Amino acid sequence: MNIVASKEIEKILPQLAARPYPQVIKYMGSKARIIDFVIEGLNNADTGGAICDLFSGAASLAGSAGHLRPFIVNDIQAYSRVIARSYLHRLSDQAASISGDGICKLAHSIVARKKKHIPTAAHYPETTTLEKFNQIEFANRELINYKYDDKYHLFLKNYSGTWWSAEQCAWIDALREVCDELLEMEKINEGDHCILLTCVMHAMAYCGQGTGHYAQYRDAKTKSSMLDINIYRQKSVEAYFSKKFESIKTWNRRHVTGNTRHQFFALDYLDALKKIPKESLVYADPPYAFVHYSRFYHAIETFVLYDYPSLQIKGGKVVKGRYRDARHQSPFSIRSQVVGAFESLFEGVSESSSNLVLSYSNAALLDLPTMIELAHETLGATYFVEALTVDHQHMTMGRRADRMRDVEEALLIARRKKRF
Ligand SMILES: C[S@@+](CC[C@H](N)C(=O)[O-])C[C@H]1O[C@@H](n2cnc3c(N)ncnc32)[C@H](O)[C@@H]1O
Repeated sequence: MNIVASKEIEKILPQLAARPYPQVIKYMGSKARIIDFVIEGLNNADTGGAICDLFSGAASLAGSAGHLRPFIVNDIQAYSRVIARSYLHRLSDQAASISGDGICKLAHSIVARKKKHIPTAAHYPETTTLEKFNQIEFANRELINYKYDDKYHLFLKNYSGTWWSAEQCAWIDALREVCDELLEMEKINEGDHCILLTCVMHAMAYCGQGTGHYAQYRDAKTKSSMLDINIYRQKSVEAYFSKKFESIKTWNRRHVTGNTRHQFFALDYLDALKKIPKESLVYADPPYAFVHYSRFYHAIETFVLYDYPSLQIKGGKVVKGRYRDARHQSPFSIRSQVVGAFESLFEGVSESSSNLVLSYSNAALLDLPTMIELAHETLGATYFVEALTVDHQHMTMGRRADRMRDVEEALLIARRKKRF
């Protein structure tokens, strides 16, 4: 029996190429910056089958390559599925006829109603003293102790005076209410709904007083930090939402086709691997640091789920970051579990007879040679395993192993050998 490199066969497949796409949130570990490199890796392992982004995060692959094939998106965090869908779903004619301003108009009357819960002491003037500013911050945070009688008050209650002001939170809740109502009244469909929620997440990211994640918000300890925080307190969620919806609408109608064969999961990667078709092309970009995404992005997870979660308590008090209580702890971010997590990843890929492109970063708990060795051991003789570096070098195990230790960013490529 003759075994030949699948690469020879795959040369006849058309090359995958990126489309331009709008980024919507700031995301730790996003591959937006090196997406052409990732796509080069995918071209090296293409099976011609479905593409599965197993850890899709802010969905840079769906954004840039989601028009090419049936695309399977997965991430343990639910917001990822929503963002990815906003890149893959063609906006309906009915939704495209609604303007961002039109949606904000509907939200305006809801915000006006909500404002009755916001005391005058919680309003942020454009200029004030540090002492007064901190009193305002306190008045905002106190809103967690109020009682609310309407259905949409999650952000006003739980997040006023954290990353956002009470007024910004009222806008976040009101926009969510309008999006849900439009869906309920069948003025939009579920894919359109995802696009609208993504635009709210965008507004949350750019109006929030942090660096784009929600691990910890800043305290106004000095005049200069107060001035900076107040810049964000003055930002308009409404304006950011409306502008993004208009620009996504234009992009969407130009670049997104009505392919309905895409699939969206919010599963653990091992469960997702059991659902993918045989001979898929799997892209895996797991976490590479000790920190958990479920903590860094808990606020958008809560916005998407809108489930009034219980908040984490420490020493009898709600923790400062107001994290969701039950949060996913990724094995890729836990030293004692990371080897097993990669082994299971390789096994799952092999069981589906798929090819794998795995992003590697030097922040990883495992170094590149160890990772390649693990891939060799787990995948066995039926796979070719090599690394592709950003400077386009292909490296296989055994040779140049020392050089591999210095690599900052690479792709581990595992291609199944074909039998004839
Ligand atoms: C490095 S980020 C992916 C970034 C993405 N490629 C991008 O460009 O935006 C890693 C992702 O893995 C997800 N994740 C962590 N543990 C997971 C698990 N057990 N199953 C599925 N996804 C997981 C995190 O939620 C996070 O979004």
